[in-house]
Amino acid sequence: MTLQISNMTRRFGPVDVLRGIDLTIGEGELIALLGPSGSGKTTLLKIIAGLDWPDAGGLSVQGEDWLPKTAQERRTGFVFQHYALFPHLKVRDNIAFGLTVMPRAQRPGKAQIAARVEELLHFLQIPALADRYPAELSGGQRQRVALGRALAISPPVLLLDEPFGALDAQVRRDLRRWLRGVHDATGTTTIFVTHDQEEAFELADRVVVMGAGRIEQTGRPDEIYDHPATPFVARFLGLTVEIPVTLRQGRAEAPGLDTSALPRRAMADGPATLFLRPADITPIPDPASPFRLTALTTTGATHRLVMEGPADCRPEAEVARRSAAALTVGQTLRLRPEAGQIFPGGPGAQTLPAAADNPRFKESTP
Ligand SMILES: Nc1ncnc2c1ncn2[C@@H]1O[C@H](COP(=O)(O)OP(=O)(O)OP(=O)(O)O)[C@@H](O)[C@H]1O
Ligand SMILES: [Mg+2]
Repeated sequence: MTLQISNMTRRFGPVDVLRGIDLTIGEGELIALLGPSGSGKTTLLKIIAGLDWPDAGGLSVQGEDWLPKTAQERRTGFVFQHYALFPHLKVRDNIAFGLTVMPRAQRPGKAQIAARVEELLHFLQIPALADRYPAELSGGQRQRVALGRALAISPPVLLLDEPFGALDAQVRRDLRRWLRGVHDATGTTTIFVTHDQEEAFELADRVVVMGAGRIEQTGRPDEIYDHPATPFVARFLGLTVEIPVTLRQGRAEAPGLDTSALPRRAMADGPATLFLRPADITPIPDPASPFRLTALTTTGATHRLVMEGPADCRPEAEVARRSAAALTVGQTLRLRPEAGQIFPGGPGAQTLPAAADNPRFKESTP
């Protein structure tokens, strides 16, 4: 089902929680909604499910207006982060629940429900759990059952709100792959909320980054990873080093900075800020550089370097332990970024909320 959200706003008291959301999700797409706590992800999901209503804007599915419909009429499948299964019902009865409470006219017969549950148990690879109670399951198994319950009614849209949030990293990774397989087999249009970028990038066809009630960027995972469109997205995706630079003919220049590995940008000359991931910086000993190494810590395979530069700039770099063997605290280093993103304006300009009018920058070859 194609789902279309247009200029949607939602306000709770004085707080604008959604500030003009425009998003179209294609038939069978798996979308990850990625954003920090409080950015409005759950609110958006609840509005789609019919558990909350917007103050303005539109929501349609297959061209049909969904706002006048009740949650029951929309029949979305919903899995919440801490959604408890019914503790007094066995797994098979939990999965069957949505079917058993359908209006009489649409409700399948008992034998049909049992067959559908059986089919789902196999499909979700949990047939051995059918007669257990939720208390007898691990967290990961419970979330599989919760997904089974959401899928039982063959929902037009599947809404997953941090379904793996409470689970440990290894189980999350397993479930992620399993979910991708389930999605590919059912083809259900799916919105998956997470604040874990690795999860979003591995799972989704498209990633939507939200910040403070707005969509900051929408794109394929690799597009977003390589070309964050705003300072907000850049910081959120780990480009945490910000170096004030001067742009000249599309090149970022600053003392102690070697940007020869970065492509030229089609941007006007003037002050700008270079955003970098610590792991994309190669430090090179250079007595003439203004960046001085002030701390060197190890996290096992990598070394983390903290430096002090001009104008209160304290860049951090992450390098393989082997290549950091010769470095000593106190020495000065030239920084060579292997990848990065440039936004116009000096450091002050970057503290403004990332605005929708921030242009996407085109790369150009010299
Ligand atoms: N019913 C409500 N009444 C008042 N404020 C609310 C209500 N529901 C949500 N909010 C506020 O709206 C904002 C967005 O909340 P929401 O739950 O959508 O965020 P989120 O992106 O899902 O965050 P998280 O990652 O922590 O789950 C928050 O500031 C929250 O306090
Ligand atoms: Mg939430």
